[in-house]
Amino acid sequence: MGFKYLVILVSLQTVLCSRMVETTLPKNHAVLSIQSEDGDIIDCIDIYKQPAFDHPALRDHKIQMSPSQSQSPSHHVEMQPDASRGSPKTVTTQIWHKNGSCPKGTIPVRRAEGKHLPNYGRKRAVFSHHSSQANDSNGQHWLRHNYSLAILHTEGYAYIGGKADIKVFTPYVELDDEYSTSRVALKTGPYYDFEAMESGWQVNPTVYGDRQTRLFVYWTTDAAKETGCFDLTCPGFVQTSNEIALGAAIYPISDPNGLPYQIVIFIYKDPYTGNWWVEYGEQINIGYWPPEVFARLRVHAETVQWGGEVHSSRVGVSPHTATAMGSGQYPVFMAHNCGEVNRMRVLIGNVLKFPDWAFEYADEYRCYDVYYIHDYVFDPEFYYGGPGKSYGCP
Ligand SMILES: *[C@@H]1O[C@H](CO)[C@@H](O)[C@H](O)[C@H]1NC(C)=O
Ligand SMILES: *[C@@H]1O[C@H](CO)[C@@H](O)[C@H](O)[C@H]1NC(C)=O
Ligand SMILES: *[C@@H]1O[C@H](CO)[C@@H](O)[C@H](O)[C@H]1NC(C)=O
Repeated sequence: MGFKYLVILVSLQTVLCSRMVETTLPKNHAVLSIQSEDGDIIDCIDIYKQPAFDHPALRDHKIQMSPSQSQSPSHHVEMQPDASRGSPKTVTTQIWHKNGSCPKGTIPVRRAEGKHLPNYGRKRAVFSHHSSQANDSNGQHWLRHNYSLAILHTEGYAYIGGKADIKVFTPYVELDDEYSTSRVALKTGPYYDFEAMESGWQVNPTVYGDRQTRLFVYWTTDAAKETGCFDLTCPGFVQTSNEIALGAAIYPISDPNGLPYQIVIFIYKDPYTGNWWVEYGEQINIGYWPPEVFARLRVHAETVQWGGEVHSSRVGVSPHTATAMGSGQYPVFMAHNCGEVNRMRVLIGNVLKFPDWAFEYADEYRCYDVYYIHDYVFDPEFYYGGPGKSYGCP
């Protein structure tokens, strides 16, 4: 009799519990979900259940929990005077931390608004490294359809890292399918068929469902035609940090008339594992791209770029998009209210330094311009951006 009761009780409890679980836990097996006051929901997900492991090349991947000791940034030889003209505050915390934290062994993943998810935010996962018709156009012009760049560019060495301080703004983004990014990019290959890894901030309504400035990582192996995506929206990037959520809003933002804020981004290759780490704010290792994700970038990058990129089907045409880049202001001498990148560095061997040679480049200088200051006293500074559609950019 007693036994029967027990069985009934247990099964009743099971029913109750499973119902509770169904209504309180999200479908993605989050250990914990945190509601942030900026509207985001952060799910803490078991580090071994993250999207990266769906990548066919990463099925048996062993997570590297932190960079190899001898590769930590303090072991790099820094070759440049560190004199800089201003010192914006560095942003490292994220607003959702006010409402909780993710336990060790989990990673914070920003819950995506399913209905907003775009083609290019979560591209069809095609992982073949098919090389397209290999013709060398010698880089005559770089204007890719739907993209406009205003950057500082360097090439000519085997780069195994790129770093910078990037001032944070919230540029106007006109249409929901357009976006504006400011970032460090490591690339290999010609402009129509390159591999890239990038990190910085962006305003991207399609991926995030709003127009807040957010931290991102991005990768592609075919000039964004088929492969790659932002953050963890497709398998590729392995996250290790339980503190920083990719795609979380950055706060505070620089006020063009007030205080400047910046993020510090360093992408570098671990010489022992070959993993390409992304470090945030000089101390937090967010995670990495395993070398297996890439074909040519497995070894090293051929170029490093710093600055802005606008994505729109209305670049290079008139009427131009009114989506802005940087702060939305054109760069002018000594004006600190425009897009700004400081302490640009490349890693060659174990030497972290300003490149021997770099040049500024803008696809559409009337819409998004560049301004580069380099003398031999202060650290070089790079200013970029603009309003898009305007008197000079009809
Ligand atoms: C998040 O934290 C803030 C500050 O502690 C608090 O005011 C707010 O009510 C919290 N929000 C939620 C959803 O818990
Ligand atoms: C070079 O390659 C591009 C992209 O693959 C292609 O569109 C173009 O027609 C090629 N040009 C020549 C001259 O083969
Ligand atoms: C540019 O964007 C438009 C609109 O999103 C799209 O239809 C077109 O295919 C894109 N062009 C290229 C070359 O990707």
